[in-house]
Amino acid sequence: MTTADEYRLLGFTDADREDTEKLDLDPVPVAEFAAQLRRVMGTFPAEDELRAPDDPKISLAAFLQTLPDIRRYHSERGISDEISWATLADLGQQLNVHRRTNGDFGLETHWWMTIHWTGMIFALGRLQFLLHQVPEKNPVPGTEPGEWVIGVHIPETGPLTPEAVDDSFAQAREFFPRHFPEHPVKTATLGSWLIDPYLLDNLPQDSNMVRFGRRFTPYGEPRDSQDSAIFFTFRSHDLENLDKYPRDTRLQRLVLERIEAGGTWQTAFGYLTL
Ligand SMILES: CC(C)(COP(=O)(O)OP(=O)(O)OC[C@H]1O[C@@H](n2cnc3c(N)ncnc32)[C@H](O)[C@@H]1OP(=O)(O)O)[C@@H](O)C(=O)NCCC(=O)NCCS
Repeated sequence: MTTADEYRLLGFTDADREDTEKLDLDPVPVAEFAAQLRRVMGTFPAEDELRAPDDPKISLAAFLQTLPDIRRYHSERGISDEISWATLADLGQQLNVHRRTNGDFGLETHWWMTIHWTGMIFALGRLQFLLHQVPEKNPVPGTEPGEWVIGVHIPETGPLTPEAVDDSFAQAREFFPRHFPEHPVKTATLGSWLIDPYLLDNLPQDSNMVRFGRRFTPYGEPRDSQDSAIFFTFRSHDLENLDKYPRDTRLQRLVLERIEAGGTWQTAFGYLTL
């Protein structure tokens, strides 16, 4: 049973907590997915080692069922309660994002939360860092295949000020050697619409977003990903009815005008040395 305090620390809104408490799910698939999570927790599983259920609500129930396990894993690694809860509170954030995107209770990004619940990602200040090995299919310059690196992720939790970003990287430089000494890291990577070259060239150069993106050296080939820019700017997946979106900020206008002119937003790749 998840306590009121735990729901709060996991970042649930009242509405998401109420809907979660009303869930009436078949306990068998929930227990099965919980067992899978327990089996791979802390082992840095490859994507195909974990099969998320089709129903995101089964995943949600399994995350709550294994909360004591992931908390114990963090504590065994010497990770502070503060970092542990900040990391796991992405669950509440993702439920909230789902509600804003779809207007109802759900967790469309349940696959993303399996990364938190297997113990691979940590929220250190403004940013999240995902400890993983360089994938063979997308090599990173200056690293060996299989080398450990940290992937940078940017939750929607307020402005991305240079000071907050500096602080996060400073924390990461201490955190990983201390808690994962067997996986030394010297490089951070980013795969994101935030470093689409078009965004970096067309937003004001002194904006937080451009200053953040310019920290990374580009590598590899960007991939088309129209949905990312729309989803992260407007929290919608509707690519057809662009007229319904607000055009209040420079980012909103830039995202829409590029698509209206026939352009396609992309996910691009970059790295930096820690
Ligand atoms: C990345 C993020 C934190 C940047 O926010 P920020 O620090 O406020 O950005 P900036 O100050 O550089 O903003 C530059 C311009 O874009 C606008 N802007 C930035 N993010 C915006 C958003 N999500 N929606 C609408 N407008 C946004 C700002 O208002 C500003 O325009 P203005 O000068 O007309 O007001 C924010 O966009 C965000 O939370 N995005 C969602 C998470 C995300 O994309 N993660 C990466 C996933 S791969």
